[in-house]
Formats: sequence, structure tokens, C-alpha cells
Amino acid sequence: MANTAPMTLIDIPGRYKHIRPVPRMPNFAAWIEGVDLSMPLTDPVKAELRQALFDFEVIFFKPQKITPEQHIELGKVFGPVSKGSYFDRRPDAPDLEMIVSDRERPPAIDNWHTDISWKPNPPLGTAIQITDTPPAGGNTCWSSTSKAYDWLSPGMQRYLEDLSAVHSWEVSGFREYLGK
Ligand SMILES: [Fe+2]
Repeated sequence: MANTAPMTLIDIPGRYKHIRPVPRMPNFAAWIEGVDLSMPLTDPVKAELRQALFDFEVIFFKPQKITPEQHIELGKVFGPVSKGSYFDRRPDAPDLEMIVSDRERPPAIDNWHTDISWKPNPPLGTAIQITDTPPAGGNTCWSSTSKAYDWLSPGMQRYLEDLSAVHSWEVSGFREYLGK
């Protein structure tokens, strides 16, 4: 049975003065309007971007022409850039990893996952820029386990409270994907 308690919507006009989040679903997955990523971001904008990620869990920006340095600066709004490499690094911007999916290298981790969740201190998130899109397909879906939990019945939430999960590289499918 699901939790049928009414959801309290985030007060977007009251909370945000420098950016405009436009959620795709109630309290989840928001387009961020009013931010030019090709210009230096002010501290109030950075603070609201962090708040938006906290509120909506995944945030999107309209396509914008940004440099590798601006991409890295956007990632740093949310925390330090992770070390360790799983994909090739961009030669001119070694903080960026490149994911290439094409006919020769089709994507092989088309399953629900959280990036790099097996590390002792996993990253807060991933800042992705898509530079080349296929004419069709190639969609990425996003889900929220915290929202899913909120919508469970109180009984099911209590049942889950004492359970724990192990995040393991061994069963992530990532090793096979990288051919290691
Ligand atoms: Fe991923």
C-alpha cells in the first residue's frame, strides 16, 4: 500500500530569487532557467544551485556553449571534483572524463544505477554535458529512491528501516563494461 498523505510542494518563488527551477515532476527533476553558464556564476546563484540539487535531486540546463573550464567550474559549485578515472580523460582538461557511445562502442550499462556508489566516499553526483546526440534514442532516465521511499506505506518504511545494502564494484556491471 502506498503512502497517500498529500505532498507539500516546494515554495519555488519564496525560496529562489536568483534562478528559476521548473520541475518536471512534483519536487523532482527541474530545469534551471535564468542561468548563463558561459558567464562567471555569482555566490547567490551558486547557493541556489546547491539548494536546487538538494530540492529536486537532478537538475537540467538548456543547451549552452560552455568551455571545459566552465563545465569544471559548474561541477565545483557542488563540491570538489573526484579523483580516479573510469573513462579516458580529455587531454586538454584532465578533470573531465569522456563517455563515447557509438556503433563500435555501444553502451553496456543500460540499467538503473548510481554512479560510483561503491567508493567509501562516493561522489555527490555527476555533472554531465552531452555534446553529440544520436538522431533517435539515447535517452537517459532518472529516478529518485528517496521519493520512492517517501511514497511507501509507513509499514513498509518500518520494514526497511533496519535493512542495509552493500554497494559493490563486483556486481555493478562496470568491470565488464570497461573490459577490466
Ligand atoms: Fe551513470
